[in-house]
Amino acid sequence: MEKKWWHEAVGYEIYCKSFCDSNGDGIGDLQGVKSKLGVLRDLGVNCIWFAPIYKSPQVDNGYDVSDYMEIDPAYGTLKDFKEVLDTAHSMGIRVIMDQVLNHSSDQHFWFRESRKSKDNPYRNYYIWQPPREDGSEPTNWGNYFHEGNGSAWTFDETTGEYYFHQYSAKMPDLNWEYEPLRQEIYKMLHFWLDLGVDGFRLDVFTRFKKMPGFPMSTKTPDPKLDRKGYVVDYTMCTHVPGIHEILKDINKNVFSQRECMTMGEGAGVTCELAPDYILPERGEIDSLYHFELSSRRRSEITPELFRTVQKKWAGVMEQGGWNIQYLSNHDSQRQVTCYGDEAYRVESAKLLATLTHTSPGIPFIYQGEEIGMVNVRFDSIEDYNCCYTLGAYQSMMENGYTVEEAMDFCSTQSRDNARTPYQWDDSENAGFTTGKPWLKVNPRYTEINLKKDLASPDSIFRHYRALADLRKEHPAVIRGNLTFYLEDDEDVIVYTRACKEETLLIIANKSSKQRAISLPESLLQGGEVLLSNLKKENSLAKEMKLDPWEAIIFRL
Ligand code: GLC
Ligand code: CA
Repeated sequence: MEKKWWHEAVGYEIYCKSFCDSNGDGIGDLQGVKSKLGVLRDLGVNCIWFAPIYKSPQVDNGYDVSDYMEIDPAYGTLKDFKEVLDTAHSMGIRVIMDQVLNHSSDQHFWFRESRKSKDNPYRNYYIWQPPREDGSEPTNWGNYFHEGNGSAWTFDETTGEYYFHQYSAKMPDLNWEYEPLRQEIYKMLHFWLDLGVDGFRLDVFTRFKKMPGFPMSTKTPDPKLDRKGYVVDYTMCTHVPGIHEILKDINKNVFSQRECMTMGEGAGVTCELAPDYILPERGEIDSLYHFELSSRRRSEITPELFRTVQKKWAGVMEQGGWNIQYLSNHDSQRQVTCYGDEAYRVESAKLLATLTHTSPGIPFIYQGEEIGMVNVRFDSIEDYNCCYTLGAYQSMMENGYTVEEAMDFCSTQSRDNARTPYQWDDSENAGFTTGKPWLKVNPRYTEINLKKDLASPDSIFRHYRALADLRKEHPAVIRGNLTFYLEDDEDVIVYTRACKEETLLIIANKSSKQRAISLPESLLQGGEVLLSNLKKENSLAKEMKLDPWEAIIFRL
C-alpha cells in the first residue's frame, strides 16, 4: 500500500465559533485559533479539520454557505486564514477544510438567481419541481431538521414551484445532475488547494444523489419527530444509485489531480458499503467516518458492539480503505457523558481516548475532548441554538409531548452539548471571550478547563499527548493486525495490534466496576507497560484485577 502522511495522522476538529475569541465579540475566530495552535502542537496533533468558516448567514453555524471562496467576516479574512494555514504548516500541522457540497445557503448568489425565473441561467443549480395537482409538495419527504411545516420542499411564489432541501429551507440542495454546477464546484475546490490546504472533509457526501422521479415515501412516520404527514426517509437521498458516478467525477476533476486527503462524513455507510467509496482503486475518496459506534442518538457502546464494529472495519482497512476513529464531533454529545461515566470523568475520558487512538484508522479528536468536557443542560429552550434541537422541540410540542419531555429529549440529543465554548481556564466565560459568548458556557468550567487539567498530575491532555507519541513510535498502532480476546466479556475490551516488529496489548475495563480477568497464556510474554490511565501499578499477569475505567497498553 502506498504510504500517505495521513495514515499516521492525529486529527483535531476545530469548531471555530466556539474555540477562541480574539476580539471580544463573543464569537471564536481565526486569530483566536492562531493564538492556540501551539496548544494543539503540544497535544501532538498534526492535522486540523476546520468545520465550515466560509461566509454564511449562520442558520446552521456555517453549514449554510453563502460564498464558498470567502471567510465569514465574524471569523476574519482570507488573509487571517492564510496566516493560520502558514503557522500551522510551520508547526507540521496539516489543514483540512470542510466542504458542504450537498446544499448551499439560500443567500448564495446562485440561489438568489435561481429563484428569479424558470429560465434564469442558475435555475438548474438547484432542484425545482412543480406542485402536485392539489397544489401540495411534490413528495411527502420531511426535512431532517423538522423545521417549518416539516416538509423537505418549500414553495416559492415567484415561479410557482417548490425547491428541495434535505435540511433547512434556508439550505437548498444543489443539483449535481447539472454539469455547470459541477464545474463551479470543481473550480472552487481547486481554489482552496491553490491556497495550500491539504485536503477536505466532505459533508454528507452520500446524499448528493436523489431518488430519480421523486417517488412518495411509504415509511411510517415517527410519532415523536415527524409532523403533518411528512416523513424523514433517508433512503430517498442516501446511497442512491448514481452516487458513485458523482464522486468519481469529483475525483477525476479535482482529487486525483492534486495532493489532497479526503475524508467523507459517511451518513448511512456500513462496512459493507464502505469499500466502494474508499478503496484506492475505486477513485472516489480516501477515508470516511461512519456512525456505527458514535451517533447523536446512541447512549452506549458495549464491548460487544465495539468488537463487532472494529472487526468489520478492520476488514475494510485490510482491503486498503481508511477508517476514521472518533467518538464525538460537533454534531454529537460529549463522549465522556455519553460513553464514559462522569463519576469517573478523568479515567473514562482517558480510556475512551486509548480506544480511539489504538484502533485501526485515523483518530480525530473533537475540541474539548482532550480536557474531558461534558454535556450541558440549559434550563430554557431559548438558550439552545442548534436547529435540529429547535425543530425537534417544536415537533414534540405539536405531537402532544410535555415541555419536560421535550426538554429531556432535547438536552440529551442537542448538538449544543458539543458546541458550548472551549473551557480554557476558570476566569469569566472560561477564558473563551471577554464579551458575551454566542452560546452559553458550560457552568462546570470552573472545575473543567485546560489550565486546571494541565496543572493536575492526572491530566487528560497529557494522556492524549502520550497516545499521539505512541502512534509515532509504534508501527503496530498504525499497521498492526487487530485481534480481540475475552470476547464474551461484558465490561472489558482486550485486543492486540500486531505487526512484524512488535505486538501491543490493550486492556480496557469499560465499566464503573472493579473487574477480574483471566488472560490466555498466549498473551503472557514480555509486558512492558507503555501507557496506563491510572497511577496504580499493574503488571501483565494471568489473573488481573482492573479498577473502574482502567486502561493499559502493554508491549508483549
Ligand atoms: C453534517 C454536519 C452538520 C450539518 C449537516 C448539514 O451532518 O456535520 O453539522 O448540520 O451536515 O450540513
Ligand atoms: Ca471574535
